[in-house]
Amino acid sequence: MEVLSCEKLALAYRDGDRTTYALREVSLSLSPGKFYGIMGPSGSGKSSLMYLLSGLKRPTGGAVRLGATTLSHLPDAELMRLRRTRFGFVFQQPFLLTYLTALENIVVAAPRPDASARKKALGLLESLGLATMAGKLPSQLSGGERQRVAVARALINEPEILFADEPTAALDQANGHKVIEALAAWRTQGTVIVVTHDAGMLSGADERIYLSDGTLSIDES
Ligand SMILES: Nc1ncnc2c1ncn2[C@@H]1O[C@H](COP(=O)(O)OP(=O)(O)O)[C@@H](O)[C@H]1O
Ligand SMILES: [Mg+2]
Repeated sequence: MEVLSCEKLALAYRDGDRTTYALREVSLSLSPGKFYGIMGPSGSGKSSLMYLLSGLKRPTGGAVRLGATTLSHLPDAELMRLRRTRFGFVFQQPFLLTYLTALENIVVAAPRPDASARKKALGLLESLGLATMAGKLPSQLSGGERQRVAVARALINEPEILFADEPTAALDQANGHKVIEALAAWRTQGTVIVVTHDAGMLSGADERIYLSDGTLSIDES
Protein backbone atom coordinates (compact mmCIF):
# COMPACT_ATOMS: atom_id res chain seq x y z
CA MET A 1 0.00 0.00 0.00
CA GLU A 2 1.22 3.49 -0.72
CA VAL A 3 0.09 6.91 0.42
CA LEU A 4 2.42 9.15 -1.55
CA SER A 5 4.45 8.44 -4.64
CA CYS A 6 6.36 10.17 -7.36
CA GLU A 7 7.35 9.15 -10.83
CA LYS A 8 10.38 10.53 -12.66
CA LEU A 9 10.14 13.72 -10.63
CA ALA A 10 12.36 16.54 -11.85
CA LEU A 11 13.01 20.14 -10.93
CA ALA A 12 15.09 22.33 -13.20
CA TYR A 13 16.08 25.92 -12.60
CA ARG A 14 16.67 28.17 -15.59
CA ASP A 15 19.41 30.72 -15.19
CA GLY A 16 19.75 32.59 -18.46
CA ASP A 17 20.66 29.92 -21.00
CA ARG A 18 21.96 27.57 -18.30
CA THR A 19 19.79 24.87 -16.64
CA THR A 20 20.50 23.49 -13.16
CA TYR A 21 18.80 20.28 -12.15
CA ALA A 22 17.93 20.24 -8.45
CA LEU A 23 16.25 16.84 -9.00
CA ARG A 24 16.37 14.46 -11.91
CA GLU A 25 13.95 11.56 -12.48
CA VAL A 26 13.31 10.61 -8.86
CA SER A 27 10.75 7.82 -8.37
CA LEU A 28 9.55 6.79 -4.91
CA SER A 29 6.66 5.07 -3.21
CA LEU A 30 5.96 5.86 0.44
CA SER A 31 3.76 3.77 2.74
CA PRO A 32 1.54 4.89 5.60
CA GLY A 33 2.75 4.41 9.16
CA LYS A 34 6.43 4.84 8.42
CA PHE A 35 9.17 7.29 9.34
CA TYR A 36 11.27 8.12 6.27
CA GLY A 37 14.58 9.91 6.43
CA ILE A 38 15.81 11.82 3.40
CA MET A 39 19.57 12.32 3.60
CA GLY A 40 22.31 13.79 1.49
CA PRO A 41 24.91 16.52 1.42
CA SER A 42 24.07 20.19 1.06
CA GLY A 43 22.80 20.96 -2.44
CA SER A 44 21.85 17.32 -3.20
CA GLY A 45 18.17 18.21 -3.71
CA LYS A 46 16.63 17.27 -0.33
CA SER A 47 14.59 20.45 0.11
CA SER A 48 13.59 20.39 -3.56
CA LEU A 49 12.25 16.84 -3.13
CA MET A 50 10.32 17.83 -0.01
CA TYR A 51 8.86 20.93 -1.72
CA LEU A 52 7.68 18.84 -4.67
CA LEU A 53 6.27 15.95 -2.60
CA SER A 54 4.29 18.40 -0.48
CA GLY A 55 3.06 20.56 -3.36
CA LEU A 56 4.96 23.66 -2.19
CA LYS A 57 6.58 23.69 -5.64
CA ARG A 58 5.48 22.30 -8.98
CA PRO A 59 7.79 19.88 -10.81
CA THR A 60 9.26 20.66 -14.22
CA GLY A 61 9.00 16.93 -15.01
CA GLY A 62 7.18 13.89 -13.65
CA ALA A 63 4.33 13.79 -11.14
CA VAL A 64 3.46 13.39 -7.45
CA ARG A 65 0.47 11.29 -6.47
CA LEU A 66 -1.33 11.41 -3.13
CA GLY A 67 -3.73 8.46 -3.22
CA ALA A 68 -5.72 8.96 -6.44
CA THR A 69 -4.83 12.66 -6.70
CA THR A 70 -2.06 13.98 -8.93
CA LEU A 71 -0.84 17.11 -7.18
CA SER A 72 0.26 18.94 -10.32
CA HIS A 73 -3.26 18.64 -11.76
CA LEU A 74 -4.72 20.72 -8.92
CA PRO A 75 -5.18 24.49 -9.19
CA ASP A 76 -3.24 26.61 -6.66
CA ALA A 77 -6.18 27.16 -4.28
CA GLU A 78 -7.00 23.45 -4.16
CA LEU A 79 -3.35 22.56 -3.61
CA MET A 80 -3.14 25.07 -0.76
CA ARG A 81 -6.27 23.64 0.85
CA LEU A 82 -4.88 20.13 0.55
CA ARG A 83 -1.60 21.19 2.20
CA ARG A 84 -3.42 22.89 5.04
CA THR A 85 -5.81 20.02 5.75
CA ARG A 86 -3.77 16.90 4.99
CA PHE A 87 -0.12 17.85 5.49
CA GLY A 88 1.89 19.17 8.44
CA PHE A 89 5.17 21.09 8.13
CA VAL A 90 8.17 21.73 10.36
CA PHE A 91 11.12 23.77 9.11
CA GLN A 92 14.59 24.61 10.43
CA GLN A 93 13.18 27.61 12.28
CA PRO A 94 9.96 27.25 14.29
CA PHE A 95 8.39 30.48 12.94
CA LEU A 96 6.24 31.05 16.04
CA LEU A 97 4.28 34.28 16.44
CA THR A 98 6.17 36.21 19.11
CA TYR A 99 3.09 37.84 20.68
CA LEU A 100 1.18 34.55 21.18
CA THR A 101 1.72 31.93 23.88
CA ALA A 102 2.88 28.40 23.05
CA LEU A 103 -0.71 27.18 23.30
CA GLU A 104 -2.09 30.00 21.13
CA ASN A 105 0.58 29.37 18.49
CA ILE A 106 -0.77 25.83 18.12
CA VAL A 107 -4.46 26.77 18.29
CA VAL A 108 -4.18 29.35 15.47
CA ALA A 109 -3.30 26.54 13.06
CA ALA A 110 -6.60 24.75 13.77
CA PRO A 111 -9.56 25.36 11.43
CA ARG A 112 -11.53 26.88 14.34
CA PRO A 113 -9.73 28.26 17.40
CA ASP A 114 -12.40 26.94 19.78
CA ALA A 115 -12.39 25.12 23.12
CA SER A 116 -11.90 21.74 21.52
CA ALA A 117 -8.87 23.02 19.57
CA ARG A 118 -7.42 24.38 22.84
CA LYS A 119 -7.98 21.04 24.53
CA LYS A 120 -6.31 19.21 21.68
CA ALA A 121 -3.38 21.65 21.68
CA LEU A 122 -2.93 21.15 25.41
CA GLY A 123 -2.92 17.39 24.89
CA LEU A 124 -0.22 17.76 22.26
CA LEU A 125 1.90 19.97 24.52
CA GLU A 126 1.51 17.39 27.28
CA SER A 127 2.56 14.52 25.03
CA LEU A 128 5.66 16.51 24.05
CA GLY A 129 6.60 17.20 27.66
CA LEU A 130 5.63 20.88 27.44
CA ALA A 131 2.47 21.04 29.56
CA THR A 132 3.93 23.67 31.88
CA MET A 133 4.97 25.85 28.91
CA ALA A 134 1.44 26.36 27.53
CA GLY A 135 1.12 29.94 28.79
CA LYS A 136 4.66 31.06 27.96
CA LEU A 137 5.69 33.29 25.10
CA PRO A 138 8.24 31.96 22.58
CA SER A 139 10.87 34.31 24.07
CA GLN A 140 10.47 32.47 27.39
CA LEU A 141 11.20 29.07 25.81
CA SER A 142 14.47 27.41 24.81
CA GLY A 143 15.22 26.71 21.14
CA GLY A 144 14.37 23.04 21.58
CA GLU A 145 11.09 23.85 23.32
CA ARG A 146 10.14 26.30 20.57
CA GLN A 147 10.77 23.66 17.91
CA ARG A 148 8.62 21.12 19.78
CA VAL A 149 5.83 23.72 19.88
CA ALA A 150 6.25 23.94 16.09
CA VAL A 151 5.85 20.14 15.94
CA ALA A 152 2.65 20.37 18.00
CA ARG A 153 1.35 23.08 15.63
CA ALA A 154 2.06 20.78 12.66
CA LEU A 155 0.08 17.99 14.37
CA ILE A 156 -3.05 19.93 15.37
CA ASN A 157 -4.84 19.02 12.11
CA GLU A 158 -3.78 15.36 12.32
CA PRO A 159 -1.81 15.36 9.05
CA GLU A 160 -1.72 12.28 6.85
CA ILE A 161 1.83 13.30 6.04
CA LEU A 162 4.18 15.19 8.32
CA PHE A 163 7.07 16.88 6.49
CA ALA A 164 10.13 18.24 8.29
CA ASP A 165 13.04 19.98 6.52
CA GLU A 166 16.23 20.11 8.64
CA PRO A 167 14.17 20.39 11.86
CA THR A 168 17.22 19.85 14.08
CA ALA A 169 19.78 21.97 12.23
CA ALA A 170 19.53 24.86 14.71
CA LEU A 171 19.61 22.63 17.82
CA ASP A 172 22.19 20.77 19.89
CA GLN A 173 22.25 16.95 19.75
CA ALA A 174 20.09 16.34 22.83
CA ASN A 175 17.37 18.77 21.79
CA GLY A 176 17.63 17.57 18.20
CA HIS A 177 16.89 14.01 19.30
CA LYS A 178 13.87 15.14 21.33
CA VAL A 179 12.43 16.88 18.26
CA ILE A 180 13.07 13.79 16.09
CA GLU A 181 11.36 11.62 18.73
CA ALA A 182 8.33 13.92 18.69
CA LEU A 183 8.17 13.72 14.89
CA ALA A 184 8.78 9.96 14.72
CA ALA A 185 5.97 9.29 17.23
CA TRP A 186 3.48 10.51 14.62
CA ARG A 187 4.15 7.41 12.48
CA THR A 188 1.40 5.64 14.46
CA GLN A 189 -1.10 8.11 12.91
CA GLY A 190 0.44 9.03 9.57
CA THR A 191 3.56 9.09 7.45
CA VAL A 192 6.60 11.05 8.66
CA ILE A 193 9.20 12.44 6.25
CA VAL A 194 12.29 14.07 7.77
CA VAL A 195 14.94 15.76 5.65
CA THR A 196 18.36 16.12 7.26
CA HIS A 197 22.06 16.22 6.44
CA ASP A 198 22.73 14.71 9.90
CA ALA A 199 22.60 10.90 9.56
CA GLY A 200 22.86 10.54 13.35
CA MET A 201 19.32 11.87 13.66
CA LEU A 202 17.87 9.04 11.58
CA SER A 203 18.90 5.95 13.55
CA GLY A 204 15.22 5.33 14.33
CA ALA A 205 13.96 5.77 10.76
CA ASP A 206 12.13 2.88 9.05
CA GLU A 207 13.71 3.73 5.72
CA ARG A 208 16.51 6.03 4.63
CA ILE A 209 16.46 7.65 1.23
CA TYR A 210 19.81 8.98 0.08
CA LEU A 211 20.08 11.81 -2.42
CA SER A 212 23.18 12.76 -4.29
CA ASP A 213 23.32 15.37 -7.03
CA GLY A 214 19.54 15.23 -7.52
CA THR A 215 19.29 11.45 -7.89
CA LEU A 216 18.54 8.77 -5.35
CA SER A 217 19.50 5.48 -3.84
CA ILE A 218 17.38 3.75 -1.20
CA ASP A 219 18.98 2.01 1.75
CA GLU A 220 16.36 -0.17 3.49
CA SER A 221 17.17 -1.23 6.99
N1 LIG B 1 16.00 29.12 -6.61
C1 LIG B 1 17.01 28.41 -7.13
N2 LIG B 1 17.61 28.79 -8.28
C2 LIG B 1 18.60 28.06 -8.82
N3 LIG B 1 19.10 26.93 -8.28
C3 LIG B 1 18.55 26.50 -7.14
C4 LIG B 1 17.48 27.21 -6.48
N4 LIG B 1 17.13 26.52 -5.36
C5 LIG B 1 17.94 25.46 -5.30
N5 LIG B 1 18.80 25.44 -6.35
C6 LIG B 1 19.83 24.41 -6.62
O1 LIG B 1 19.25 23.13 -6.60
C7 LIG B 1 20.11 22.19 -6.00
C8 LIG B 1 19.39 21.48 -4.85
O2 LIG B 1 19.03 22.41 -3.84
P1 LIG B 1 18.26 21.97 -2.51
O3 LIG B 1 17.10 21.15 -2.90
O4 LIG B 1 18.02 23.19 -1.72
O5 LIG B 1 19.34 21.03 -1.80
P2 LIG B 1 19.51 20.59 -0.26
O6 LIG B 1 18.22 20.86 0.45
O7 LIG B 1 19.88 19.14 -0.32
O8 LIG B 1 20.64 21.40 0.29
C9 LIG B 1 21.35 22.96 -5.54
O9 LIG B 1 22.35 22.80 -6.49
C10 LIG B 1 20.86 24.39 -5.50
O10 LIG B 1 21.91 25.28 -5.77
MG1 LIG C 1 17.77 21.99 2.13
